[in-house]
Amino acid sequence: MAFPVHRPRRLRKNENIRRMVRETRLSVDDLIQPFFVIHGKDVKNPIESMPGVYQLSIDRLIPEVKRACELGIPAVILFGIPDKKDPIGSGAYDENGIIQQATKAVKDAVPDILVITDVCLCEYTSHGHCGLVKDGDVLNDATLELLAKTAVSQAKAGADIVAPSDMMDGRVAAIRAALDEEGFVDVAIMSYSVKYASSYYGPFRDAADSAPKFGDRRAYQMDPPNVREAVKEAAMDIEEGADIIMVKPALAYLDVIKTIRETFSEVPLAAYNVSGEYSMIKAAAQLGWIDYEKVMLETLISIRRAGADIILTYFAMEVAEILQR
Ligand code: PBG
Ligand code: ZN
Repeated sequence: MAFPVHRPRRLRKNENIRRMVRETRLSVDDLIQPFFVIHGKDVKNPIESMPGVYQLSIDRLIPEVKRACELGIPAVILFGIPDKKDPIGSGAYDENGIIQQATKAVKDAVPDILVITDVCLCEYTSHGHCGLVKDGDVLNDATLELLAKTAVSQAKAGADIVAPSDMMDGRVAAIRAALDEEGFVDVAIMSYSVKYASSYYGPFRDAADSAPKFGDRRAYQMDPPNVREAVKEAAMDIEEGADIIMVKPALAYLDVIKTIRETFSEVPLAAYNVSGEYSMIKAAAQLGWIDYEKVMLETLISIRRAGADIILTYFAMEVAEILQR
């Protein structure tokens, strides 16, 4: 493969030839748009650390979801901010909770878009942890029942896919069994299988008001230096019935995405381009330090190139607009 017979620049000469030999593509088909839903009417609270992202009341959420659907985005994922929190996270599995109401309203108004619901307790617990707390510890097995209850209540409201993000062991099996028992055999599970205890979630915790009130999440979310353990987590989730698995965050974990993609060919792989990743690009753009659109697109293609089929990203609607032009 030596010069001068080989000249790789031949295939970079113009956009037509580059387009033809391009190895990875970004399509609107790959994108999931997250939304934060809050009680009330006509509410649109900006999130200071996430420019362009808002806490929306259901009446303000619906037109946004309609727009996402018109742009060709296949799915949205909903996060809820309840009006009150308690130690057992009742708002997560309340039949009339914020997510249950929002899911019904979206399925009613925009039946053509998939609704994914996040299954976790941290937005609903007064202590801000993802499970039940006893003597400062987050209990695993006792939490499973509440997660399963949450998923079933979301399925009842019309969720197409439930997405457990809590990192309790055994939650996919518990949720699958509960869904099946209630007849929701066609509700899929997208598991946050490989979720690290990351500092890149900071802005999300402002948006969802879900920061832990004591300690941190390192006793249940994964330790950032580990990748063999990621393979184990993904294998367990697939065995327990996950239809789609996820790696989260994306950018500092592109090697993990690649390893998971190469190890498991039997399920679609999603990656979560998390809040901190979004905010860093927004901030640099606001300072005029980077070319916003180009950096955004280059970032998302890197996640696809690493091996993710699906990307959850706060950029989804903006990117869909760019891809349309
Ligand atoms: C809830 C949850 C979190 C995110 C998604 N679901 C936060 C956390 O685990 O603390 C993070 C998403 C983001 O940062 O964009 N368990
Ligand atoms: Zn949580």
